[in-house]
Amino acid sequence: MNKLLIFDTTLRDGEQAAGASLNIQEKLEIARALEALGVDIIEAGFPVTSPGDFEAVKRIAAEIRGCTVCGLARANPKDIDRAWEALQKARDPRIHVFISSSEVHMVHQLKKSREEVLSLARDMVARAKGYCSNIEFSPMDASRSDPQFIYALLEAVIDAGATTLNIPDTVGYAMPFEFGGLIEGIFNNVPNIDRAVISVHCHDDLGLSVANSLEAVRRGARQVECTVNGIGERAGNAALEEVVMAISTRPDLYDVTTSINTELIYPTSRLVSQRTGFPVQPNKSVVGANAFRHQSGIHQDGVIKMPKTYEIMDPKTVGVPASSLVLGKLSGRHAFKERLAELGYNLSECDFDRAFAAFKELADKKKEVTDRDIESLVAEEQRTV
Ligand code: KIV
Ligand code: ZN
Repeated sequence: MNKLLIFDTTLRDGEQAAGASLNIQEKLEIARALEALGVDIIEAGFPVTSPGDFEAVKRIAAEIRGCTVCGLARANPKDIDRAWEALQKARDPRIHVFISSSEVHMVHQLKKSREEVLSLARDMVARAKGYCSNIEFSPMDASRSDPQFIYALLEAVIDAGATTLNIPDTVGYAMPFEFGGLIEGIFNNVPNIDRAVISVHCHDDLGLSVANSLEAVRRGARQVECTVNGIGERAGNAALEEVVMAISTRPDLYDVTTSINTELIYPTSRLVSQRTGFPVQPNKSVVGANAFRHQSGIHQDGVIKMPKTYEIMDPKTVGVPASSLVLGKLSGRHAFKERLAELGYNLSECDFDRAFAAFKELADKKKEVTDRDIESLVAEEQRTV
């Protein structure tokens, strides 16, 4: 099986989410959790942006031994030198150099020609290579760039020493078939492509970041950049937990494995939510509060008989203790009996019928019938016998 590298950018792009700033202690705590989770690369920050970011990258680089630690830099000498200053104590440091490649960015933001962008990219990758061997290059806004220009840029930076080529869908604009086509085009048109790992970095503006990342993996990408809970700029980045669980749930489609210890996914999600102050929506895939809760009576009946009827993954594999049946007006006798047994009740047939009738009456008045409600309705029934 091929290895798919998981590049976590929770501490860099994730922290760029409006309102999600983390202090150094919180960043260190999250970095330790990511190391335990088994990510391959931690993008710890963008050192030139502030003394706080510099210090955080420096501390993470000095402490984390289990993964590569990466720092972001624009394609200019000051950014690259500062990134190296922060990273130099890392066991395996990586400098990530980026520059925009789309016409709209080059004309309106960089005010540079294609030739200027290409030579800057080549020279700055070479400068970074003077510091360490592990160099990533990203043509920003790649999905809205001329593919011919992307091919030329990638060929040049590989020659200059880039070892990972990251293809960003910076504004979350691409459709999966287009993004997959771009990745395939890169493999077919960049002559020295076998000297580098292809990575993807997708944003969620149209809710397609995970779909685009997965399509890229099908076309040969071997690194996915993602964040815990999908936090990040605007609508966020591809969610680590969704990419990892899609791949491990569908080995029939993806011939890759990751090093993620999936049982730590849920605790890591809770930690990131608590430290950033960003709640996880209840219906969020894999880590939402409702991701393994069953409300409909038909579903509850199925799950009691055989979890696989309505669960495509075992909640324990992502660190959620067990699936839970939500008792409400849609619940049937079977689910009610199970919950009574869990609560230690073993009612006679006749007591059960009366308790079930009382439960149905209560369920019509409340969204969810709690364990405490059940205890008091059973006590009430027993008093009236
Ligand atoms: O979205 C983006 O293009 C980025 C780059 C810096 C990789 O975050
Ligand atoms: Zn990004």
